[in-house]
Amino acid sequence: MPLSDLLTHIDPAGPEAALARSVNFDRLPKHVAIIMDGNGRWAAERHLPRVEGHRAGIESVRDTVESSARMGIEVLTLYAFSVENWKRPETEVSALMGLLRQYLRLELKTLLKNNIRFNVIGQRERLGREVREELEAAEQRTATNTGMLFNIALSYGGRAEIVDAARRAIREGIPADRLDEDTFASLLYTAGQPDPDLMIRTSGEMRISNFLLWQIAYAEIWVTDTLWPDFRCRHLLDAIIDFQKRDRRYGAVSSGPVTVGR
Ligand code: IPE
Ligand code: IPE
Ligand code: MG
Repeated sequence: MPLSDLLTHIDPAGPEAALARSVNFDRLPKHVAIIMDGNGRWAAERHLPRVEGHRAGIESVRDTVESSARMGIEVLTLYAFSVENWKRPETEVSALMGLLRQYLRLELKTLLKNNIRFNVIGQRERLGREVREELEAAEQRTATNTGMLFNIALSYGGRAEIVDAARRAIREGIPADRLDEDTFASLLYTAGQPDPDLMIRTSGEMRISNFLLWQIAYAEIWVTDTLWPDFRCRHLLDAIIDFQKRDRRYGAVSSGPVTVGR
């Protein structure tokens, strides 16, 4: 039971529990995608180096992954590193990769305990060998888990993903008249997964930054000024409560309360 699962991990008398009781767990978004932004600004506000913002962001990742799994969300995708982020200084990139490895080492047990399947999306061949091996080990260890699918977008670009899919279609000799939207979607990194119903961005920026361009065609967007290192389960609950008030029309006429997926 997702509500009771969640309530065993939060203060039952606190504001988070009150939020959790307002969620309709029968109408959860199947797939939640999050642009985790604002680590640098969080650090700057504290006169700390940027890497300290990334380090603090790990706690938000942990809380979000575990809360999502307990709530019964089917797929969670976190945008951790974009293809454009390779333009950052080498010291910041290597610090980020180091933190990623640290997260995996500390959290693999929790992923296994919570029946979470871990999956990397993005141009993984551009990642260093050691990081790649560790990611692949985590994917293998969690491959038979049947609970939430946790996608981590690393060296990810939405346009690059679409170009990769087009190249695959050509290589596999798919005839032009068979290449419809479903076939094309099956060539993306997210093949077989439901499209995101809810897309969250932290730190107040009103842009998509090359994230899941194909898949978010009809995602509901929720932006918060909260910086990623301050993001916790209560913010996720806020986003879900807001999502459940939306009227998703998909270009047609109103169908009443929120519908999940199409
Ligand atoms: C998000 O925080 C983390 C990554 C993009 C890797 P930023 O590092 O972008 O933080 P800001 O946007 O500079 O505050
Ligand atoms: C988006 O954040 C990418 C990730 C969260 C990994 P950025 O900080 O890189 O995006 P821009 O530069 O503000 O668009
Ligand atoms: Mg940023």
